[in-house]
Amino acid sequence: MLPQRVIEQLIDIVGESRLLFEADDLQRFGVDRTTLWQAAPCAVVLPGTVEEVQSIVRLANQCNLAIVPSGGRTGLSGGAVAKDGELVVALDRINQVIDFNPMDRSVTVGAGMITGHLQQFAEEQGLFYPVDFAASGSSQIGGNIATNAGGIKVVKYGMTRNWVAGLKVVNGAGDIIELNKGLAKNNTGYDLRHLFIGSEGTLGLICEATIQLARAPLESSVMVMGVENFAEIVDVLTCFSRDLDLSAFEFFSQQALDKVISHRGHTEPFKTETAFYALLEFEHSSPDILDKAMALFEHCVDVGWVVDGVISQSQSQAKNLWKLREDISGTLWQWQPYKNDISVRISRMADFLEDVDQLVMEQYPDFEVIWYGHIGDGNLHLNILKPEAFSVDQFHSKCVNVSEEIGQLLAKYEGSVSAEHGVGLLKKDYLHYSRSAVEMDMMRSIKRAFDPNYIMNPGKLFD
Ligand code: MLT
Ligand code: ZN
Repeated sequence: MLPQRVIEQLIDIVGESRLLFEADDLQRFGVDRTTLWQAAPCAVVLPGTVEEVQSIVRLANQCNLAIVPSGGRTGLSGGAVAKDGELVVALDRINQVIDFNPMDRSVTVGAGMITGHLQQFAEEQGLFYPVDFAASGSSQIGGNIATNAGGIKVVKYGMTRNWVAGLKVVNGAGDIIELNKGLAKNNTGYDLRHLFIGSEGTLGLICEATIQLARAPLESSVMVMGVENFAEIVDVLTCFSRDLDLSAFEFFSQQALDKVISHRGHTEPFKTETAFYALLEFEHSSPDILDKAMALFEHCVDVGWVVDGVISQSQSQAKNLWKLREDISGTLWQWQPYKNDISVRISRMADFLEDVDQLVMEQYPDFEVIWYGHIGDGNLHLNILKPEAFSVDQFHSKCVNVSEEIGQLLAKYEGSVSAEHGVGLLKKDYLHYSRSAVEMDMMRSIKRAFDPNYIMNPGKLFD
């Protein structure tokens, strides 16, 4: 419960209609896409300016009130969950295009801008915002930056980090700080912008971002190929990426495809069923690119890695092939999946796949395990579906035990326990498998420097 005096001060800052207490609002703004935690914020506040954000943070410091920053709440690790009476500060209203500079090819936007709106704005300028994923229709730029979102184009364009040229933030102490100011070159000491990228709201609130835009991509083709052996997907990747500049290389299992087809009404890419499917995309960067791609495909068939395949003949067919991959995550929600989002270096992927497959078969003999992911950048999504007979708690405790073993395997392969979804509440217990004790101590010191009273998203990332 917020004391009346604090309620009045918050109303002075944002106005009465921007402070929400209704149960529906607390529920809606108090969780992300995870289902393990119950929303229990004390209130939701919707500032409209950076100065209002600053006033809220200063007030929170005075009355020792924890803040959970909230974007589109499409996160998958509990990073935006407010379960302990925190104040949710939602950036939805700070969502405008603030400045567009065609010469710099950059745009400054409010952190609450929906990712899809930024993509659309870029397209209207003949440019391209290349970070893309299934949740781009509701995720917000600030949240993308706070989690350094990845998605389906990382092999060519990299993560969100690559496209952030500047940030305006309010740190946990309540200072407004401009970080990097859109500069391409700026060697003036520590680049604090990069500390905020991926900080999951633990250092402060990202309020505005200057985003570098890319040139519009050329027309592209999508190929889907059926593969019988898990490890051979890496052979196919190596073969194609040696000769083609790929813009995506994804994979999914037959079980994932079955679910998407039966729940979304999509059609299979071709008649032959195989254990796994690789989906790749390339731009038409030279006149002989399609011949090159077909020759590589034929080679993969000849050596026995690929059993069947299809290449898009139109943009609408390409879009439909993409849906087979992009609709997997949304389709699986009905089974309340336990989500692993892990990565290793590409060069270690083949051995890792074999080991992780073995481990999963031994540890989850009775559970349905769905594989998919961005194999082109070393990122696997391993989703364990909750059997109906299990309660959420029973299911979670079983998965937590297996996560320890996956963590140990990742430590052996020097991989990451969170490739792109972030750590949040879900993975903080496994962070030590990817980060050393010294690194974790340093992260804690950095948090203290930005957030001396420990009010920013406490309990996320680490304790
Ligand atoms: C995806 O690759 O589809 C997203 O990361 C979401 C998910 O893993 O569920
Ligand atoms: Zn993903």
